[in-house]
Amino acid sequence: MIEIIILILAYLLGSIPFALVVGKIGYGIDIREHGSGNLGGTNTFRTLGVKAGMIVTICDILKGTLAASLPFLFAAEIHPLIAGLCAVVGHVYPVFAKFRGGKAVATSGGVLLFVSPIMFGIMLFCFFLFLFLTKYVSLSSILTAIVTTAYSIIFGDIPLIIAVSLLAAFVIFKHRTNISRIINKTEPKITWLSLKKK
Ligand code: G3P
Repeated sequence: MIEIIILILAYLLGSIPFALVVGKIGYGIDIREHGSGNLGGTNTFRTLGVKAGMIVTICDILKGTLAASLPFLFAAEIHPLIAGLCAVVGHVYPVFAKFRGGKAVATSGGVLLFVSPIMFGIMLFCFFLFLFLTKYVSLSSILTAIVTTAYSIIFGDIPLIIAVSLLAAFVIFKHRTNISRIINKTEPKITWLSLKKK
């Protein structure tokens, strides 16, 4: 029974739409009506600037970390990655925001932060390297998901490989409109200057 409660709790935790909360409470706007319309850190950076973007990204990461730690906190016999996956599903399909949420990147990172901080560090390094090289957040997210999967295959155990592969597939699936925009050269690039203007 406690296992089911934990999975539901993890989903509900993941469902908290921080981009919506910060946009509405802090700035009086609905972030879904701006930029890409995505309820995530990137669209918050793009629409509301660095401070709001940082808050949303950190909260989205930490809800994944907290969800993955629930089995430990409740001493339940359930793998942290399963609770983490429920949080990511909640983040992408949030019950509190009409099932239209984010693209699984930050919350997946938060789950991996709990199960493998080294892997999270590698993720962060790769993401910023790709961002520096391409200036596309979406492409950097996709490439980071691929590198993280490769890392899990080389260094991880079977549960980690399965979970990371599922998360990476989810990330790529959620970025299909971004992929079309990159191909059509209509995907916006992020530069430090564009963020400082907010
Ligand atoms: O994490 C989401 C990011 O990779 C893309 O977001 O708003 O540009 O679609 P967005």
